[in-house]
Amino acid sequence: MTQNEIINALKQKLDRPIVLIGMMGSGKSHIGRQLASELDLEFIDTDSVIVERAGASVAEIFERDGEAKFREAEKNTILELLDRSPCVIATGGGLPVNPESLQAIKEKSHSVWLEADIETLLERTAKNKNRPLLQQEDPAAVLRGLLEKRRDIYAKADIRVDSSAGAAHDPVSQIIKLLCETLNPDSVAVL
Ligand code: S3P
Repeated sequence: MTQNEIINALKQKLDRPIVLIGMMGSGKSHIGRQLASELDLEFIDTDSVIVERAGASVAEIFERDGEAKFREAEKNTILELLDRSPCVIATGGGLPVNPESLQAIKEKSHSVWLEADIETLLERTAKNKNRPLLQQEDPAAVLRGLLEKRRDIYAKADIRVDSSAGAAHDPVSQIIKLLCETLNPDSVAVL
């Protein structure tokens, strides 16, 4: 099958949003935007929705209202977005930690874990000061600790794709291929 045929086969079967989960710096927004463009779908970023509604950056929300309020906003946002027709949703790294959000993601979307090594996560997050959890002396240790706590949660996604800097495959094509296989089990042999 050509890439176009794979995309068409996927689009025909796609009946719900595609949700990207994974650590800060795993490329959810970047890859999500590319994926949406390939599939001609709307792209939505939960952090951006929250920021727009609050009229404040993520760092300001953490500072002003506290992390718990941000987590509440994350839950309300994903529960609302999951009722939409097919689109691509990038989530904040901590969003699926909330059991209600994770359950809704499992029930109402095709979920994708973007997995990347710590070096990649560190490099991609190094310059951005808008991630309050990483404004610490040793961000590598923070990332390692968070990944340790979250790995089993991320692993509940329907599919897993390597988005590390040196990944063997282009993550966008991989997601399309794996989702197509999941939604068209009879055509697996020809992909
Ligand atoms: C967070 C990830 C961030 C943002 C917030 C908290 C986390 O989103 O929601 O800083 O707990 O992992 P990205 O994963 O898009 O960086």
